[in-house]
Amino acid sequence: MRFSLLSATGLISAVASVLAVELPPGVPRSLEEFRGKHPIRSSEHVEDDISAEFLDGIKEANNGGLLHLPKGELFVIGKPLDLTFLNDIEIRLDGEIRFTDDVPFWQASGYKHPFQVGKWGGNDIRIYGEGVLNGQGQRWWEEFSDLGIPADNNYTYARPILFYVQNSTNVNIEGIHFKDSPIWHQLIEWTTGIHYRDVICTAHSTNASVHPANSDFFDSQNIWDLTVERAWVDVGDDCFSPKSNATNVHVNQMYCNGSHGQSIGSLGEHVGVGSYVEDVVIENVWMLNGQHGGRIKVWAGPTAGHGYVKNVTFRNFWNANNEYVGFLDSCYWKIDAETCLEHPSRMNISDIVFENFSGYTSGKNGRVIARFTCSSSPDAVCENIQMRNIAVEPPCGGPAIAICDGISGGLGDDVPCYPSDSEEAKAALADKCEGPRSDYTGKPWEP
Ligand SMILES: *[C@@H]1O[C@H](CO)[C@@H](O)[C@H](O)[C@H]1NC(C)=O
Ligand SMILES: *[C@@H]1O[C@H](CO)[C@@H](O)[C@H](O)[C@H]1NC(C)=O
Ligand SMILES: *[C@@H]1O[C@H](CO)[C@@H](O)[C@H](O)[C@H]1NC(C)=O
Ligand SMILES: *[C@@H]1O[C@H](CO)[C@@H](O)[C@H](O)[C@H]1NC(C)=O
Ligand SMILES: *[C@@H]1O[C@H](CO)[C@@H](O)[C@H](O)[C@H]1NC(C)=O
Ligand SMILES: *[C@@H]1O[C@H](CO)[C@@H](O)[C@H](O)[C@H]1NC(C)=O
Ligand SMILES: *[C@@H]1O[C@H](CO)[C@@H](O)[C@H](O)[C@H]1NC(C)=O
Ligand SMILES: *[C@@H]1O[C@H](CO)[C@@H](O)[C@H](O)[C@H]1NC(C)=O
Repeated sequence: MRFSLLSATGLISAVASVLAVELPPGVPRSLEEFRGKHPIRSSEHVEDDISAEFLDGIKEANNGGLLHLPKGELFVIGKPLDLTFLNDIEIRLDGEIRFTDDVPFWQASGYKHPFQVGKWGGNDIRIYGEGVLNGQGQRWWEEFSDLGIPADNNYTYARPILFYVQNSTNVNIEGIHFKDSPIWHQLIEWTTGIHYRDVICTAHSTNASVHPANSDFFDSQNIWDLTVERAWVDVGDDCFSPKSNATNVHVNQMYCNGSHGQSIGSLGEHVGVGSYVEDVVIENVWMLNGQHGGRIKVWAGPTAGHGYVKNVTFRNFWNANNEYVGFLDSCYWKIDAETCLEHPSRMNISDIVFENFSGYTSGKNGRVIARFTCSSSPDAVCENIQMRNIAVEPPCGGPAIAICDGISGGLGDDVPCYPSDSEEAKAALADKCEGPRSDYTGKPWEP
């Protein structure tokens, strides 16, 4: 992209100087002018819906240009946006794109499968700046929780995804703040080459009795070559959770406060459908006040699918006040022990490493710092799961242990591992206590 644009601009200036041609008004004289050329009107007030102008601006900037949404300006979007035609475009977002919270309108008019307020797609897309994509989740969370959901698996109250990308190549997101999505903040599907850098993702309720639900930072299906470098995430659910079919994933430097963890999955939900995740490195992460550090969750039950998770490395995790620092759940989701035994997971889990973990747990699970439950199916492989160089302290004092059910070959020598029905496991779980919360707020990669 940069190449063709530069040569086109070079051509214009060469022609201008040699032939002294007066360029007609409106033709950009420089790269900066060219890139700055597609301004759109910003909203005058919070109900001033500029979605039509936004779409026009994107069309103008497409094929080699830039749409600039300046700092201090608000762009209210009140209609679904189909932006799946993108090709070689930059969007500099320093202002705020804010989706309206007209719940009845969106529920009637958003795109389905999955439900979203907009869809993005194409090739060579770069969205950068210090601006905000604001999903205004507050009303959605409140109405959703009023209905007593998440008990509702029927999705009678559907909530849209803030940033949905499909069938794309080379998507680059830098600096953007994803804020208060009604549900997941991102879903990326059928895409090769996705790169996040310096992004922020927060979901904060202003109502003490209502918490954001299912507000994951990142979810995906069918992706290849994903990098996340320096992300600051404070949401109430998974910090990072690639789902079915992810290959070559690298997370480096992520701050996760109050999250459910660095989660692979859930995977293998649907009968007859394969789920494959391989070649994943998640490293240099700070996991605070959450459920799990590194976790893998795979479905069991009569309608579960099949597949594998292999070659996943969780490395250099600093933990503070998490329930477990490592977790494998093969009885997802809410499958009771009996059903799980009857219909165990058909996902193979192999070559998983938890390496160089430090910090402390919450004490909720006593001295147990990690728990791995393999599928009980004789056909499902669960092997080469290793914990190495682990210095995580339970705040309750006494030796840290892990609980392991069914890992063939064990967990390595670093952390003693006992089956869940052992006396050791029961005693360690019973040693409950309460550790301190972590109020660490620095960007860990900027000491
Ligand atoms: C908080 O949310 C609950 C549930 O929707 C609602 O009943 C209550 O009025 C909200 N409180 C405020 C201060 O908005
Ligand atoms: C789910 O939908 C079914 C059929 O419409 C209904 O009978 C059931 O009560 C619903 N469950 C919940 C939790 O809303
Ligand atoms: C995206 O790609 C998948 C796999 O090639 C295809 O099945 C699907 O129809 C595509 N979706 C769209 C919206 O083009
Ligand atoms: C981290 O999360 C906890 C609870 O989940 C919250 O009380 C605290 O304010 C958060 N810290 C920061 C820096 O956002
Ligand atoms: C994952 O990939 C496999 C093999 O390509 C495919 O059969 C399956 O449908 C994919 N799963 C999902 C959830 O898209
Ligand atoms: C495991 O995944 C990492 C990260 O993608 C990759 O560098 C490495 O080659 C993979 N190892 C094997 C044995 O495939
Ligand atoms: C799981 O591993 C077993 C044993 O190697 C193999 O027979 C089976 O095909 C694997 N399943 C999947 C879904 O890869
Ligand atoms: C181990 O992880 C800590 C962060 O928890 C990091 O400071 C240290 O450099 C890591 N050690 C190695 C050998 O990478």
